[in-house]
Amino acid sequence: MRAGNNGLFVPGPTNLPPQLRRAMDRPLEDHRSPDFPNLTLGLFEDLKRVFKLDRGRVFIFPGSGTGGWEAAITNTLSPGDTVLASVFGQFSHLWVDLCQRQGLNVQVIETPWGEGAPVEQYAEHLAADTAHKIKAVLVCHNETTTGVTSDVAAVRAAMDAANHPALLMVDGVSSIASIDFRMSEWGVDLAVSGSQKGFMLPTGLALVGASEKALEASRTATCPRCFFDFADMIKANQDGYFPYTPATTLLHGLRASIDLLFAEGLDNVFKRHNRLAEGVRRAVAAWGLTLCATAPKWYSDTVSAVCVPEGFNGNDVVSVAYARYNLSLGVGLNKVAGRLFRIGHLGWLNELMCLQALAGTEMAMRDIGIRITAGSGVGAAEEHYRQTAAPVALQAATALKV
Ligand SMILES: Cc1ncc(COP(=O)(O)O)c(C=O)c1O
Repeated sequence: MRAGNNGLFVPGPTNLPPQLRRAMDRPLEDHRSPDFPNLTLGLFEDLKRVFKLDRGRVFIFPGSGTGGWEAAITNTLSPGDTVLASVFGQFSHLWVDLCQRQGLNVQVIETPWGEGAPVEQYAEHLAADTAHKIKAVLVCHNETTTGVTSDVAAVRAAMDAANHPALLMVDGVSSIASIDFRMSEWGVDLAVSGSQKGFMLPTGLALVGASEKALEASRTATCPRCFFDFADMIKANQDGYFPYTPATTLLHGLRASIDLLFAEGLDNVFKRHNRLAEGVRRAVAAWGLTLCATAPKWYSDTVSAVCVPEGFNGNDVVSVAYARYNLSLGVGLNKVAGRLFRIGHLGWLNELMCLQALAGTEMAMRDIGIRITAGSGVGAAEEHYRQTAAPVALQAATALKV
């Protein structure tokens, strides 16, 4: 039995806001009742606002982000189709793996881990593809392995410059609802997210935005699909229903999640993530450590991957933080295993929660012998949060004290 809260600072799942928990604390219900569409039809519309999708649809599948990848691919492509993708972390790698297992021919741009989508190389591949064999361009907007955010709009610009008709598919699993994402403005045809990150819910929903062009492609694509079939979903969703039993409890949570996002305002949500992330970055600098992201233009506002000094293992920081201080951090994955640990700073989060994570991280690093001055990172983050805090009417505060 451990007293107090677990500090949940993995980059998803994220903290569950009490109002979302309450929204899901309800009796189970009949998903074919006449009332059910009152819940679902609004969700479909409001998700489009979160994805910033003007025309098209957002699908809600039971599943996780991985299911969303599969839905995007199998609905719009045919076996043997060529897709262009870059790999710079475990998740961009896994999406490519999924494509290969679906029988697609993947042109992979291997990219150093710590950098984001290499726009110039995308441009070269697209310009060289005068026969338009490439049917889809894949981009991981926020690579959660390395804490790197890519410039999706720049990839779209490269596609437009090459006059290339491929579909643009984006993994927005750890960006949508936390980092600015503009599906229509950036010409994204398929955008994938999941419920357990920016939407602050338990895992269990794969959210997939599809442009009109993607929906058109789904009418002729021949990859086998059943559970994730857009056509079955569209038919049932039209009236607010699903082709099979939906995750009804999570749908109520999703309603509360979207309400919370809109109440704060999406732009404020993005600003909050940026401000909290900047505090974490200042802490990392004060520790004298570096991020895996190799340049500020790649810095992610949802996850910071912190490199440990030579001779140390990032997994030890994670193990000690959990065992001694009940703090959950993310381990390094695949190529960067052991070289770093990750601090997830997304979802329902504020300054003091971040300071808690930074304090626990400092203690764990000191415990394993990394030379960090106690309080250095926390102090740097504190200063950032103090300096950027909203002004307070001090007189009112004084009056309250009296
Ligand atoms: C960027 C990114 N893409 C895809 C996934 C896979 O999503 P899931 O674990 O929900 O299947 C993750 C999971 O962390 C992720 O961070």
